[in-house]
Amino acid sequence: MTGNAPAVRPARPFFSSGPCAKRPGWTPEVLNAALLGRSHRSKPGKARLKDAIDRTKALLGIPADYRVGIVPASDTGAMEMAMWSMLGPKTVDLFAWESFGEDWVTDTVKQLKLKDSRIFKAAYGELPRLADADPNHDVVFLWNGTTSGVRVPNGDWISDAREGLTICDATSAAFAMDIPWKKLDVATFSWQKVLGGEAAHGVLILSPRAVARLEAYTPAWPMPKIFRMTKGGKLVEGIFEGETINTPSMLALEDYLDALKWAEGLGGLKALIARSNANLNVLARWVKESNWAAFLAKDEAIRSNTSVCLKIVDPWFLALTPEAQADAAKKIATTLDKEGVALDIAAYRAAPPGLRIWCGATVDTADVAALTPWLEWAWAKVKQS
Ligand SMILES: Cc1ncc(COP(=O)(O)O)c(C=O)c1O
Repeated sequence: MTGNAPAVRPARPFFSSGPCAKRPGWTPEVLNAALLGRSHRSKPGKARLKDAIDRTKALLGIPADYRVGIVPASDTGAMEMAMWSMLGPKTVDLFAWESFGEDWVTDTVKQLKLKDSRIFKAAYGELPRLADADPNHDVVFLWNGTTSGVRVPNGDWISDAREGLTICDATSAAFAMDIPWKKLDVATFSWQKVLGGEAAHGVLILSPRAVARLEAYTPAWPMPKIFRMTKGGKLVEGIFEGETINTPSMLALEDYLDALKWAEGLGGLKALIARSNANLNVLARWVKESNWAAFLAKDEAIRSNTSVCLKIVDPWFLALTPEAQADAAKKIATTLDKEGVALDIAAYRAAPPGLRIWCGATVDTADVAALTPWLEWAWAKVKQS
């Protein structure tokens, strides 16, 4: 017998790991002020792009001598732009512990054909030995592995005296975790994650050393226009002042500005991190009591406070074939989806069967709390069937 359905539903059932929930109180009216039908190169257009850059820098505490640019093609665009522009002159150390990290390995080894790259991998739920990074090499890694819920605990493993560049995909970490920017030469993120913005553009953050690499090094391969950040061996500074390479969405921009202002109103980065942590803590308390769910990331120090990934440890479940396990886990997610209490919480397709519940700052803690009895309810239903 499964119990009755819980009485309380999450007010907002949005727990997807990207696009993520809009900020509390968001309505389409926030877009009314968007600069539509105008050129992004007009004075007000450029000013708005620059405003987004300035607010991003201030909110994240990015050092004053770092550049921040709005670039095409979301986080992937920002990462590939950096990789295609900067990789080549040094051996690359690649750290991968889930599917997005694997994508950057593929880019480096199969597309850019940097065959002497060193690849450090770990299974889902674990982290490779970051201390193996050679300070004379370039390093490519993620701050948070969105599909395994495993994050880098800190930047202590990155040498301050490094010769190589650290290139970090921080898309599901920015605005939710403390990122030591001085340890990163390149960092990227997209708008639709922790701030619940609209997908379109990437944000590319460059240290002075990254800029020096761009100005000193010309890759052997062709560079598409949307990757080109230098002209005549000099950085195109305009890109980092709101003069985008090609046309941005002024609607997505307005939405991002709204999210930034919401975050400022909350109290800034600290408040955003606190919201994510509070959400994770609700799940942690529930997992501790649960007899079937466990974190994929066993080690608390590397556990994500955004993309929280759960595995199922019930003996009945573990005795199932891998296909039946995948089906059962999926069924929990679809049951909750059908009920309208939690949308898009199935584990990533390449990850171990389980659930992934987004806990970023735009998710209300009361909704995570309201979700946990429903997780129990759905589990009981699936197990019984
Ligand atoms: C860590 C990570 N990198 C890259 C991506 C791809 O991002 P985008 O779709 O913004 O290019 C994602 C998307 O979820 C991600 O989580």
